[in-house]
Amino acid sequence: MKILLLGKGGQVGWELQRSLAPLGELVALDFDSTELCGDLSKPEELAETVRRVAPTVIVNAAAHTAVDKAESEPELARALNAVGVGVLAREAQKLGAWMVHYSTDYVFDGSGHQPWTESSQTGPPSVYGRTKLEGEQLLQQHCRRHLIFRTSWVYAARGQNFAKTMLRLSAERERLTVVDDQFGAPTGAELLADVTALALRRTQAADGDALAGLYHVVAGGETSWHGYARFVIDFAQQRGITLKAVGDAIQAVPSSAFKVIAPRPRNSRLDTRKLRGAFGLVLPHWQIGVARMLTETLERSA
Ligand SMILES: NC(=O)c1ccc[n+]([C@@H]2O[C@H](COP(=O)([O-])OP(=O)(O)OC[C@H]3O[C@@H](n4cnc5c(N)ncnc54)[C@H](OP(=O)(O)O)[C@@H]3O)[C@@H](O)[C@H]2O)c1
Repeated sequence: MKILLLGKGGQVGWELQRSLAPLGELVALDFDSTELCGDLSKPEELAETVRRVAPTVIVNAAAHTAVDKAESEPELARALNAVGVGVLAREAQKLGAWMVHYSTDYVFDGSGHQPWTESSQTGPPSVYGRTKLEGEQLLQQHCRRHLIFRTSWVYAARGQNFAKTMLRLSAERERLTVVDDQFGAPTGAELLADVTALALRRTQAADGDALAGLYHVVAGGETSWHGYARFVIDFAQQRGITLKAVGDAIQAVPSSAFKVIAPRPRNSRLDTRKLRGAFGLVLPHWQIGVARMLTETLERSA
């Protein structure tokens, strides 16, 4: 395989640099790469990059992911999340290449309690969700060999994440308030990157083209942001970390307690049966990945 990776410095992109490396030659770019253009907002230069690299697989981890900011810069969000994806898809199709792309639970309206399936009705209420949905559609229209992985609540060990924020706040404050009416599964960038590499391997088999499609990929189980925070703080406490806000001092509040610009989905549950069946994969419980990330974080700060 010759793989062109876009968005190499992001949460998922960083982990993909690791997981894709054993599959073949990897050309990994960011928006400010110099020799080759990896900027999704520059359609012509981006197409030229694909033609020059001539990959057998394009993996796009680049995106406009600032959900609130997207409301005030919809053109830029659309350029990255939709138009740029369409450019990559057309170039991939010309080469007969595979294209892997990531999407989000924000394509749904967040209603109900049941996990969304791949055939559930979409209805994004935010600019981010609408532009991500358009990106999915452009990829489906223009590149036959595609894998679209819809995911949610992504965290990575590198950089900032929700768990690290909770640890910091519970060390500083006597009380914390955390939303308890939004539900999903915290999903590690590591897991997404590993699933991507394993799925790509399967597409190279003789019957691989039949695997093209849209899949939901999240860790097993579900929780609320409040449940997630409690798990993180309990975990740190059990390992001897001194914190001020623990136990009942982590208060559950409704979404209406926080003002946000873009609406957040209440129901981010994604049904992953299609992926598990098609690729024969297991998606471990979210607590396994979060515990691993916390162990590394706490060891590093010790
Ligand atoms: N994070 C989540 O909770 C979540 C949930 C569901 C789905 N997803 C999807 O998963 C994928 C990966 O997300 P992530 O969490 O890894 O996001 P991320 O950490 O924000 O990474 C996105 C990357 O795209 C880069 N980028 C920004 N503008 C660009 C441009 N013009 N051209 C090329 N690259 C540009 C960013 O660079 P800078 O950092 O320098 O701006 C960053 O490296 C995305 O498709 C996202 O929509 C994420």
